[in-house]
Amino acid sequence: MEISVVGSGYVGLITATGLASKGHNVACIDIDKDKVDMINRAEPPFYEGQLAESLDTYVRQRANLRASSDYEKVLSSEVTFICVDTSSDSGENADLSHVKQSTKRIGEALSRKEGYHVVITKSSVVPGTTEEIIIPLLEQYSGKTVGKDFGVAVNPEFLQEGRALHCFLNSDRIIVGEYDQRSGDSVQRIYNGFDAPILRTGIRTAEMIKFASNAFLATKISFINEIGNLCKKLGIDVYEVAEGMGHDPRIGRSFLNAGIGFGGSCLPKDLEALLHKYEKMGGKPAILSAVHQVNRAQPLRMIEIVIRKLGELRDKKIAVLGLAFKPDTDDIRHAPAVEVIHQLLLQGAQVKAYDPKAMPKMQETFPQGLEYGDSAKDTVEGCDCVLILTEWDEFKDESIYTGKIVIDGRRALDPERAKSICQCYEGVCW
Ligand code: UGA
Repeated sequence: MEISVVGSGYVGLITATGLASKGHNVACIDIDKDKVDMINRAEPPFYEGQLAESLDTYVRQRANLRASSDYEKVLSSEVTFICVDTSSDSGENADLSHVKQSTKRIGEALSRKEGYHVVITKSSVVPGTTEEIIIPLLEQYSGKTVGKDFGVAVNPEFLQEGRALHCFLNSDRIIVGEYDQRSGDSVQRIYNGFDAPILRTGIRTAEMIKFASNAFLATKISFINEIGNLCKKLGIDVYEVAEGMGHDPRIGRSFLNAGIGFGGSCLPKDLEALLHKYEKMGGKPAILSAVHQVNRAQPLRMIEIVIRKLGELRDKKIAVLGLAFKPDTDDIRHAPAVEVIHQLLLQGAQVKAYDPKAMPKMQETFPQGLEYGDSAKDTVEGCDCVLILTEWDEFKDESIYTGKIVIDGRRALDPERAKSICQCYEGVCW
């Protein structure tokens, strides 16, 4: 099929590349000309496993993936995915300005299109957004009528950064929220070559499936962190508890890794958006609020441990290993490391940080006040304490920690072995 994808961030470019790999002809549309040029040179605009090789295949060799800043590309496609960012600059509430802007431009393009077209919301938007904002804007700017001249669907993504292409191509489920059957049939056709169950629902239901899924994952993490905080007091290993629980298929072992909590551009933002939606509807969300509260407190527990070990932090040398919100990405949005470093600097500590991929992004957040190491070993040299905040494989090398005070936020090290190597080893909830 001929497909256009608006927005070339994580979601848009992964979607476009995944669809190109299934033989579709895909046009990426992005207002950022530098990004467009990079994609057309087959250079990934961000770090993501397999993306560089895939761009080389579909942009250079097969030439079925191209990027442009021109919304006229909508006209030569049958369907258009909206994949623009919904993060706000402050990182607090979801921001719909990019969704609205791109929807208007798609609407304008549709006013010149002959024939049927389907617009598909892939950006994560709270339930009601497609019906209340996207459809009215499309009708206003195209001068056409939904259900007659064009179709609309919601097709949420379930991509995990670091393995996003794998997730796209090996999805557990494909959710198609359809305005009407014709819209849903078009979306189903896109996914013909995929080996995944397709669930067809209403538009609001599809929007909610995305938010409820992320909120549930966040709940699992905050739940195990709360259990972990208690286990620590009781001298019980929460990882053994998680193992014991996880064998029950009703519970499952995944997303029960206790530590400094969840970060990233999705779980925190989607949880907050759902909280706000609930409050806006006049309710008081009990579980969602608690999940949020536990997650905000976890990084601060790490600071409490450092103070307990070192006393006053002024002029203490703290090595921070790991800045990204999880391994295999350079993304630091809502990363626990940002809060931990902020607190350390507030208390007057001297912080030296290292991350295999995320240092350039961190330099934008902390242009001053933070020193950066060349390697994990270089970073920990001469420090009073080492904090492990992302479980990158290279931080699992125990020789880095010989004789050091180490506080592990991610269970990167085996506690028993670490205790015999480090001067002192403690986990955030073990
Ligand atoms: C998340 C969801 O997992 C995806 O299904 C969803 O599509 C995506 O958000 C999105 O909405 O776009 P992602 O943000 O890439 O994906 O990251 P996760 O792998 O879910 O990890 C989120 C955070 O939770 C990380 O900071 C990770 O370290 C933390 N985490 C994860 C834990 O603290 N414990 C765990 O057991 C698992």
